[in-house]
Amino acid sequence: MPLDVVVGLQRGDEGKGRFVDLIAKDYSVIARGNGGSNAGHTVVPDTMEPLALHQVPSGITNPGKLNIIGNGVYVDPRRLVKEIEEVKATGLEVSKNNLLISASSHLVLPHHIGFDALRENGLKAQGSTKSGISYVASDKYLREGVRFELLATPKILYERAYDGLLRLNEVLAKEEKQSPDEIKATVEDWLKSVEALQIHMADTVEIINERLSEGQKILAEGAQGFWLDINHGMYPLVTSSSTTVAGLLDGLGVSAKHLNKVTGVAKSVKSHVGHGPFITEIKDSALAANVRGAFGLTDSEFGKTTERPRRIGYPDLVELRNAIRINGIDELALSKLDHVPRYGKEIKVATSYTYKGSERLTSPTSALALESCEANYLTMDTWDKDISVLTKYSELPKEATKFVDLFVEQLGVPIIKIGVGPGRRQVIEKPLG
Ligand code: GDP
Ligand code: IMO
Ligand code: MG
Repeated sequence: MPLDVVVGLQRGDEGKGRFVDLIAKDYSVIARGNGGSNAGHTVVPDTMEPLALHQVPSGITNPGKLNIIGNGVYVDPRRLVKEIEEVKATGLEVSKNNLLISASSHLVLPHHIGFDALRENGLKAQGSTKSGISYVASDKYLREGVRFELLATPKILYERAYDGLLRLNEVLAKEEKQSPDEIKATVEDWLKSVEALQIHMADTVEIINERLSEGQKILAEGAQGFWLDINHGMYPLVTSSSTTVAGLLDGLGVSAKHLNKVTGVAKSVKSHVGHGPFITEIKDSALAANVRGAFGLTDSEFGKTTERPRRIGYPDLVELRNAIRINGIDELALSKLDHVPRYGKEIKVATSYTYKGSERLTSPTSALALESCEANYLTMDTWDKDISVLTKYSELPKEATKFVDLFVEQLGVPIIKIGVGPGRRQVIEKPLG
């Protein structure tokens, strides 16, 4: 069966992009099926500066591969055009030969972003990335959304974007309101971006399924993480996509019967960029700052889309168990093992919760219930050695292998790859057993 999947098991930013960039060479197609420009996947291919991808699949760094943006992705045309230019500026090819966008994907309109920012700046803030995701999603489910295929009738597209901005204007503060000329200019700019993407428009469901029937290997790249899922995450402090394997397959239009292997990505350093319950959060701001590191595209805990500092906590195996169960994870890729010593000489790892006086190994699925859980920890020794230069599992200090073994024992799933730095080669293959 030719379909493999990579999904995030925590709260996003686990390192999905870097593992997809590494294994993309083994696939014919790399496809995104959920999320949108709220995602930020940093890849550091050989001999390249770090590259933050948002809507373009992380297979783009591997020449000769077909990258697909599926029907479940919320496409922001203006940001995508800019992103394509940024990728091209690195010398990589982005053309209709290696990037296709589903004609059925829903477009983010300028007012979606405006309404999202307005809510985020007010009392109902959720910590969103202000990418317009909640508003494009609500239009989709109201069945009033604008799909990419509507480009066949640009006049309708123009009117929908124009009307949206008029509605936004009604609720904007006086000094923020746009004049009719400004609205016209914003809509024209947006429409120009949609038109620029036309060469990439395709029936991606047909294409993926054709390739599957030919036995070609497909890699589905998840966005966000399990706990941001609209059905299973910390509702309402989630995103507006289904971020599970099931949601990803649905967002690509492929049947689960093609599924071969599901890799879950988890990071050793626990962090979260938005609002929401965070049971193992570290309250000691100096320790949190040390684990977070200094601002940068790699090596630090800052959101890649918003540049916000991520909240820091201790690793939490309890929430991983829920994600493993519902996604049917076959194997784990563990990132950021190199950052574990940032916690100090010891690190606490949450292995169970106490909820209403009872110990439990999985987390309650309600955000409200989560608020009243307490974590129970095991304490592990860390290490001094710089492991970011190592290439073999046997070279890791024994404290590092004990840390990895704890995950395997507690979670019952093999760890097959371990990130020891952000670079493509900074991954150690862990022998099974
Ligand atoms: P994604 O959204 O899951 O693709 O993850 P992001 O790219 O948003 O965030 C992961 C961050 O950690 C990026 O800055 C990566 O360059 C970096 N990273 C990934 N794996 C490792 C690792 O093993 N070690 C270190 N030091 N950094 C890593
Ligand atoms: P990747 O694919 C981390 C979070 C936001 C916020 C919530 C809702 O890079 O892992 P939204 O803009 O979707 O309405 O925000 O979801 N969020 C992410 N956090 N990584 C992401 O994507 C995220 N995408 C959304 O921070 O808490
Ligand atoms: Mg990210």
